[in-house]
Amino acid sequence: MNATHSPFASLARAVDAVSIPGIVVEHRLIADGDERALLPEEMPAFAASVTKVRRASGAARIVARQLLARFGQPPQAIPRGTAGMPLWPTGIVGSMAHDDTVAVAAMAARRDFLSVGVDVEPAEPLEPGLLDIVATANERQWAKDDPLAGRLLFAIKEAIYKAVYPLDRIFLDHHDVEVNLTDGTAVVRQGRVVRFRHCAATHMVVLAFIPVAEVPP
Ligand SMILES: CC(C)(COP(=O)(O)OP(=O)(O)OC[C@H]1O[C@@H](n2cnc3c(N)ncnc32)[C@H](O)[C@@H]1OP(=O)(O)O)[C@@H](O)C(=O)NCCC(=O)NCCS
Repeated sequence: MNATHSPFASLARAVDAVSIPGIVVEHRLIADGDERALLPEEMPAFAASVTKVRRASGAARIVARQLLARFGQPPQAIPRGTAGMPLWPTGIVGSMAHDDTVAVAAMAARRDFLSVGVDVEPAEPLEPGLLDIVATANERQWAKDDPLAGRLLFAIKEAIYKAVYPLDRIFLDHHDVEVNLTDGTAVVRQGRVVRFRHCAATHMVVLAFIPVAEVPP
C-alpha cells in the first residue's frame, strides 16, 4: 500500500524518520494473502506456524525483497538461520520485524554497516511489572515516570539483539544491554557499542546499526 494512502501515515513518517544514509527502512500493512509470499526455501521454518504468523513473515519478506531490489539483488529467498536470524545474500545486511498489523524491514550494504536490526512495537505502555524485567537500574531512573518508556526500551533492546546476534551468536537478556537514550547508543554485555534511532507514531520503530567505520580494528 502506498504510504500516503495508509491509515498508518504517521507510521510511514516514523519509518522515514529512523532511516539514515546508507540504510533503507520500509514498512507494509499486513494483508490477507501475504502468507503466499513465502518462497519454498522459506517454508520449512514455518511448517508448524499458524496462518497469522506466516502472513506476518510473508509481509516482512515482501518488504525485504523490495529492498533487495534497491541493492541490485534479484528476488530471492530469505530463509531463517540459527536461532531464527534471517539469512541475507553476500554483501547485504538486514533485519525484519512484524506485529499484528505491520511488517518492517531494514537493509544496508555490508561494506558500510557491520549489521542492522529493526523492531516495531505498538506505542502502548508495557504490562505492569515488566519494566523491572526490561530495564536495568540505571534505565529505570529515567523510564519509571514515562508510561511509554518501558515499551521503547523493549523495542530498542529487541532491535539491538537482532543486530548483534548474527555477529556474536549469543543470547542476550534485557539486562545485558544498557541503553543511553540521550546519545542513541547501547552497550552490550560483551562490549559492543550499537547505535540506534527511534521514532514513535501509531507504532514505535527502532533501527539499530553498527557502522563499519566505527568498528575497532
Ligand atoms: C529475535 C526476537 C527479538 C524477535 O522478536 P519477536 O517479537 O518474536 O518478533 P519480531 O517481529 O520483533 O521479529 C521477528 C523477526 O526477527 C528476526 N529474528 C529472529 N531471530 C533472530 C535472531 N536470532 N537474530 C536476528 N534476527 C532474528 C527474524 O527476521 C524474524 O522474522 P521471521 O520470523 O519472519 O523470520 C525474539 O524472538 C528473541 O529471540 N528474543 C530473545 C532475545 C531477547 O529478546 N533478549 C532481550 C533483548 S536483548
